[in-house]
Amino acid sequence: MVAFMRRRTAVALLSITGLLVLALSNPAGEWWTALQQPYQSEDLIKCACDKCIPEGDDWFMAHLNQTIHPFLTPQSNLSAKDFLWWKKLQGDGNDLAAFKRVVDKVFKLFPDGKGFMDSGSQRCRSCSVVGNSGNLLASHNGALIDFSDFVFRMNGAPTKGYEKHVGKKTTFHIMYPESAVDLTDNRTHLMLVPFKTLDLQWLISAFTNGSIKFTYRPVKAKIHANKDLVRILNPQFIKYVYEVWLRNSGGYPSTGFLGLMLAIHICDEVNVFGFGADQNGNWRHYWEELKDKRLRTGLHSGTEEYRLIQKLAAKGIINFFPGH
Ligand SMILES: *[C@@H]1O[C@H](CO)[C@@H](O)[C@H](O)[C@H]1NC(C)=O
Ligand SMILES: *[C@@H]1O[C@H](CO)[C@@H](O)[C@H](O)[C@H]1NC(C)=O
Ligand SMILES: *[C@@H]1O[C@H](CO)[C@@H](O)[C@H](O)[C@H]1NC(C)=O
Ligand SMILES: *[C@@H]1O[C@H](CO)[C@@H](O)[C@H](O)[C@H]1NC(C)=O
Repeated sequence: MVAFMRRRTAVALLSITGLLVLALSNPAGEWWTALQQPYQSEDLIKCACDKCIPEGDDWFMAHLNQTIHPFLTPQSNLSAKDFLWWKKLQGDGNDLAAFKRVVDKVFKLFPDGKGFMDSGSQRCRSCSVVGNSGNLLASHNGALIDFSDFVFRMNGAPTKGYEKHVGKKTTFHIMYPESAVDLTDNRTHLMLVPFKTLDLQWLISAFTNGSIKFTYRPVKAKIHANKDLVRILNPQFIKYVYEVWLRNSGGYPSTGFLGLMLAIHICDEVNVFGFGADQNGNWRHYWEELKDKRLRTGLHSGTEEYRLIQKLAAKGIINFFPGH
């Protein structure tokens, strides 16, 4: 009961802060429209939060596919068609049989990728997805972020020195070999986004003899992280996000967008921070000075991803904190 009360109070606090942020960032009054949206009480109870990711929106439900498991498991059995799409992302020369042999090796070393798919009327899992945008600075969202059950971060994302704005808790740290960093917290899940078979081989190597030091560029030979918490994003899930959500725009989805989509599939409530440009229109990391103003979002369709985030927010599927 006490825990229950704390949850309710906290959710209320979160909502109030959210509204305040919305009101401050949006003096034109869209927050008022948001306030007036009816509470969808006619839905079946999908989760134990005050408000669950709604299943009432037609557009959202037409895109959402919960049969595609976000995590790679020993049972994933990637189809030839999905593999062919995935292997082109970074010009992988391996065939499906070779890929499957590596997957078998991976699951001899790491856990089976199950878990987190336990949604139901008893679960209220709040999540914060923290992008790396410079718009996080001066946001003072650290406490709000750490209050979530799960916090998702990507690539280089440091917390030390930025706690006030980005928080310090990390449940999933999403990375690929070329962006990998050591994880200092033994409770953080290293979440690998594989873009080629070599990335899975690197994962094995990084936790064993460190023999892989180069992919298309030098990579960390060894990684410091809890081996028992490693998870791998399912290539089929990457393809689904690209084709269904991004409608094939850009080369392939960014790590940040994949993290957001993962959260939508395994959480009941999703808060999103640190996406998009900063107030000067620059796409830069919160921990770096901008070196090259022409640098935008590279291979990824930053505008399409940002447009989708705004749409998900407008429909109340995520709580979006746009920053400054
Ligand atoms: C979900 O994805 C699977 C695998 O690609 C596909 O067979 C199925 O038709 C999809 N379901 C919906 C509702 O789109
Ligand atoms: C994997 O899928 C293929 C068809 O795509 C099927 O022939 C094969 O039996 C499946 N293997 C397992 C282990 O489920
Ligand atoms: C980290 O957690 C694992 C269990 O997942 C445990 O075996 C190991 O001793 C822990 N390491 C440290 C440094 O706490
Ligand atoms: C590292 O281990 C792999 C097997 O996992 C082996 O093929 C490779 O030769 C080893 N490399 C070194 C330098 O020991």
